[in-house]
Amino acid sequence: MKRKNINIEYKEYLNKEELSKEEILLLERAAQAAESAYAPYSNFHVGAALLLSNGEIVAASNQENAAYPSGLCAERVAVFYAHAKYPAESILSMAVTAMVDGKLCKTPTYPCGACRQVLSESEKRAGSPIKIIIGGEKVIQIVEGISSLLPFAFDNVSK
Ligand code: THU
Repeated sequence: MKRKNINIEYKEYLNKEELSKEEILLLERAAQAAESAYAPYSNFHVGAALLLSNGEIVAASNQENAAYPSGLCAERVAVFYAHAKYPAESILSMAVTAMVDGKLCKTPTYPCGACRQVLSESEKRAGSPIKIIIGGEKVIQIVEGISSLLPFAFDNVSK
């Protein structure tokens, strides 16, 4: 038996000015997208903005449904739309922000497990890490790849 460790590194910013222009723009686009959320059941409005390899930014929000599991998180709405519209492009980075009652959540909102699994496959398609920028009102955190969020992703379908 061997004990093994996985180190997960993330960057934390308490000051938005330290981010690059591109990261700030993506966070702004995510916050804008959160305004289009359809979330009458949770009142939790999430926006996700993706930067693609062709320079396009695709942003989307969570869409809920009276049959609760039929709704979809902002991240998956954005990722699936991006792949449907630009199947040949890779996702380079993604910003996520969440709002309640029109105010940014104070702490970062990380993608749920199902979204991490989907992002993990997008990253595999891209062949390079997807940067994830998680924006809270007071704290912004960045991880440089999905493996930091989902170290043991499932990808055994063809094995
Ligand atoms: N939600 C997202 O859109 N993204 C996340 O990262 C977490 C949760 C949505 C799903 C549901 O519409 C609402 O937030 C409450 O869970």
